Amino acid sequence: MIEGLPMRFPADGLPSQVRVYEVAPRDGLQNEQATVPVEVKSEFIHRLRQAGLETIEATSFVHPKWVPQLADAEALMPLLGDLPADLRLPVLVPNSRGLDRAVAHGCRDIAVFASATESFAKANLNRTLDESLAMFEPVVTRAKAEGQWVRGYVSMCFGDPWEGAVAPSQVVRVCRALLEMGCDELSLGDTIGVATPGHVSALLGELDEAGVPVGRLAVHFHDTYGQALSNTLTALRHGVTTVDASAGGLGGCPYAKSATGNLATEDLVWMLQGLGIETGVDLSRLTATSGWMADRLGRPSPSRTVRALTGADAAQGSHQHSHKEQ
Ligand code: HMG
Ligand code: MG
Repeated sequence: MIEGLPMRFPADGLPSQVRVYEVAPRDGLQNEQATVPVEVKSEFIHRLRQAGLETIEATSFVHPKWVPQLADAEALMPLLGDLPADLRLPVLVPNSRGLDRAVAHGCRDIAVFASATESFAKANLNRTLDESLAMFEPVVTRAKAEGQWVRGYVSMCFGDPWEGAVAPSQVVRVCRALLEMGCDELSLGDTIGVATPGHVSALLGELDEAGVPVGRLAVHFHDTYGQALSNTLTALRHGVTTVDASAGGLGGCPYAKSATGNLATEDLVWMLQGLGIETGVDLSRLTATSGWMADRLGRPSPSRTVRALTGADAAQGSHQHSHKEQ
């Protein structure tokens, strides 16, 4: 056993490589009470890159009053200008005004964000579901015409705090609409973390039957009930190879009160490394970054892996001891 790394036991039926789509600077920081200085955000993103992440969602060009934590998007983007061109730095864009702002800062990758439910479309976008799709349509058309890469999020794919269980057919409908608009990739959001593995299988099965290619899908699990990792493994067994995760387990959505942190990138990478699946991520650098960010935020990371790898010596010592005894 190598200290700080999982034992390696590959399993059948899984991809050899997974693309980790890092969301902490956006999904994580949008939910923090404290305002994080723009220089700290920039350093966070630089450190994530140094840890090997190749896609890092940087910020949002939404209305600054709706998400004040990310109101500094204009100040942040120039601080990222030295990062290599092969790094993807998607930004959230809800409407044409948001696209104008993103384009003015040279953003090449954008994400629109739809909802599978009416209630969340209203709470998050101040629109009905159809009105929000109509708002995205010209954004995606223009972004594609200008050569941008476009992701389409679908939130509340499993359950919704106002409407309860969400039928897979609602998700299928929104996914198809976003693909027809021209989105390159779709991310299935379990915004409030209520999915369990059978539910994930059922939804991916329905999307497959409806002709939504699994190669265009990513999964985005929040970890409210500790199910994010098992849900992710289920999705990998169905052929999904892009997984959204948040360094240190930061995250949530200010417009869905039961949304908690995302699947922690460290917990994901620990599992994937154990399975022998390549991610390109350096776990020890990533963990150090999340530890550094936790100090800036003034509270410990909720990630089990971050806590195990950076935790108290005594707790770590007894953990390693128990492994040696096995
Ligand atoms: P609205 O109030 O309906 O806006 O908000 P509007 O279209 O009526 O415009 C009102 C004013 O806002 C206008 O100014 C616009 O120019 C301005 P005025 O003419 O009155 O002076 N405005 C803007 N200004 C700057 N940037 C913009 C912008 N748009 C309009 N982009 C809006 C509609 C969509 C803007 C608002 O609802 C909004 O910003 N929502 C964003 C909410 C959000 O960011 N939520 C978190 C991200 S989603 C998430 O976390 C889920 C996810 O992680 C997946 C998952 O977990 O499921 C992705
Ligand atoms: Mg989210």
